[in-house]
Amino acid sequence: MNENNSPYLLNAWYVAALSKELDGQALFKRTLLDTPVVFYRKADNCPVALLDRCPHRFAPLSMGHRDGDDIVCPYHGLKFDCSGKCNHNPHGPGTISPRAIVRSFPLLERYGFIWIWMGSGPADESTLPDYSELVSGHRNSVGYTYMPRPCHYELISDNVMDLSHVDHLHGEIITTRGNLSPMMPNVVESQGEVAVRWEWEQTPPIMIFNDFLPTPGEVARHFVEVTWSAPAHLLLVIGATQDESVDELNYENTTAQYDFHTSTPESKDRTHYFFATRRNHNEEDAEFNEVKLQGMHDAFDFEDGPMLDAVHLQMGTDDFFSLNPIFISSDAGPVRVRKMLKKMIESEREGAETA
Ligand code: FES
Ligand SMILES: [Fe+2]
Repeated sequence: MNENNSPYLLNAWYVAALSKELDGQALFKRTLLDTPVVFYRKADNCPVALLDRCPHRFAPLSMGHRDGDDIVCPYHGLKFDCSGKCNHNPHGPGTISPRAIVRSFPLLERYGFIWIWMGSGPADESTLPDYSELVSGHRNSVGYTYMPRPCHYELISDNVMDLSHVDHLHGEIITTRGNLSPMMPNVVESQGEVAVRWEWEQTPPIMIFNDFLPTPGEVARHFVEVTWSAPAHLLLVIGATQDESVDELNYENTTAQYDFHTSTPESKDRTHYFFATRRNHNEEDAEFNEVKLQGMHDAFDFEDGPMLDAVHLQMGTDDFFSLNPIFISSDAGPVRVRKMLKKMIESEREGAETA
């Protein structure tokens, strides 16, 4: 696949895996953007990503084994270094074809994730958004999780950009008790980003914060702000306060959490959904951290997930606008995101055609 015919934005950073999924010497495989990839860590712990397909008879290298920092094909034993270049052919005179090269992909390891660049343009570190807040607190104040989902990845961006569904779809742990739907979210579109924000009062406060507020069960002001950037990165900051002197609510001046959602397409019908959450309260409590992460994971897995999977099946296409959907006020954010991403993919394709 290349920029001429890809349905995806290719020159962008996607999350390929949680850092903890790449464990020591083991080979790890995952299909991303319809492309099979094998990952491993070198002896110095740096991650490597290669196309999971030998250029000889196309065996998956992930079925092979490591030889130091090299990888050996399981079928006829060609060996490749971590840049993908064949450095050993055990057959006949051992001649190495100049085409015996496996494609390698640039990686970055940041914020608890392995990020991959699958385009043919130069991997541009400066386009990776800054999510350093995730790793700037106590280790027990942050958690990571992963869910494979049988749905198109843009449905996940739609879902997080339109949090009015929380009023209707979610159970006790994160319900907003009908407060978001009547409101018009504030939507701000800037260079390469779309942000939506709601502010509301709720009694009792949202359950994830209730016990950490001065008077649990009493009214609290809440805010949630979600910022999308391409291709499918969503920073969600949510907080509550009972302090009337607080003016502009933000992560620092409320009881809050800083969440990162991102989805990487496996194909047009399957998605890798990654999630990280950090909080600014009860930061050292390891047990609470685990329970909280599991609660969030379960809300996505048992409430959002089945709905997105069902929507995907009902749509039967990844061309959302072709179905002529009706729109409601809370669609303002997700529709802008879809249009912006569509434009970026089209301009990447046009660039490839004229290059
Ligand atoms: S398929 Fe890899 S060496 Fe033959
Ligand atoms: Fe949800």
